Amino acid sequence: MVTEYICWDCEKGYQPQDLQRAAMVLKQHGLVAFPTETVYGLGGSGLCPEAAKRIYEAKGRPSDNPLILHISKSEQLPMIADRIPDVAYSLMKAFWPGPMTLIFHKNKCVPREITGGLETVAVRMPSHEAARMLIEAAGVPIAAPSANTSGRPSPTTAAHVREDLDGRIEMIIDGGAVNIGVESTIVDLTEDIPTILRPGHITKDMLQQVAGEVRMDAGLLGTDSDRKPKAPGMKYRHYAPRAKMTVFDGELDVVVKQINDRAREYPAAQVGILASEETADSYTHGQVVSAGSRNARTIEQGLYSALRLFDHKGVKVILSESFSQEDKGEAIMNRLMKAAGQHIIYLSRE
Ligand code: TXA
Ligand code: MG
Repeated sequence: MVTEYICWDCEKGYQPQDLQRAAMVLKQHGLVAFPTETVYGLGGSGLCPEAAKRIYEAKGRPSDNPLILHISKSEQLPMIADRIPDVAYSLMKAFWPGPMTLIFHKNKCVPREITGGLETVAVRMPSHEAARMLIEAAGVPIAAPSANTSGRPSPTTAAHVREDLDGRIEMIIDGGAVNIGVESTIVDLTEDIPTILRPGHITKDMLQQVAGEVRMDAGLLGTDSDRKPKAPGMKYRHYAPRAKMTVFDGELDVVVKQINDRAREYPAAQVGILASEETADSYTHGQVVSAGSRNARTIEQGLYSALRLFDHKGVKVILSESFSQEDKGEAIMNRLMKAAGQHIIYLSRE
């Protein structure tokens, strides 16, 4: 299959004929990757089992891992969700359109192929103009997981999508680099207390200000080893570069020293170091990649690109700094730890 590339420009938007072609691909149950404010999505017609099947095939994704339905206006919600609690309306008013996904009981018209066999459905209204126009033009909710091969870091540019899916899907819409860089916060509204199933750009504090008490999924915290994460996707090693990765946690100068020492155990070409702008110059041996600035809080935006860059460099091991857990750092550390298969070393000052 030859993948067609079209452009979305943040000032000029779509060429009208391009938007129509993209909508037509979706209507015919084909796949279109498109930018959202979080990461690129791999879109297929949201109420159509065949499109869901193609999404799973293109990504190589286990079919028990459900998809998020993307809508462009709130009126589309009752069509796909059932028993919508009042708190949903407050959360939607505060954070939609934007990087928050809500889990509801599903309505009958949502096929099980979309929900991985579950009786619940994930819904999000993205704020990216290109995504919203595409959903409008398609005339139906769009099912869209992140547009990466299953297990790899999510794509934050069209070039990342091309790396994973060129020749496997009908179309890629290039809207440049996304501005957030990690996936949406997932909040389950089917329990009495809203529960975060995946941390993201919208933090627990932000949700609590609107919804009152909010919990973290116990399976996510790893406090109770018997509990699996409730979002099926959170149980896999994920967001991962090919090399074996270890995260070092502790005071920053101790971490830098330890990574410098460990790096010398490998040939320089084979060891990757995931650093930050503030520390990158402190490393003397290995392939140093900065995810972004700690002070300017750009790690969220640069993390996935940095992980992919290690694949291009062909390193065998990655030694990574850890980042603040505060605030939006919760999402960053959640993704980093999954990329490292939870492999972390805690360092204390001697
Ligand atoms: O920011 C995002 O959310 C991006 C953009 C493209 O919108 N999408 C995204 O989709 O990250 P995906 O498929 O890569 O991740 C969806 C996550 C998975 O962990 C999946 O298990 C969980 O949402 N999920 C979907 N439906 C669910 C449900 N009914 N119950 C629990 N978890 C669900
Ligand atoms: Mg994903």
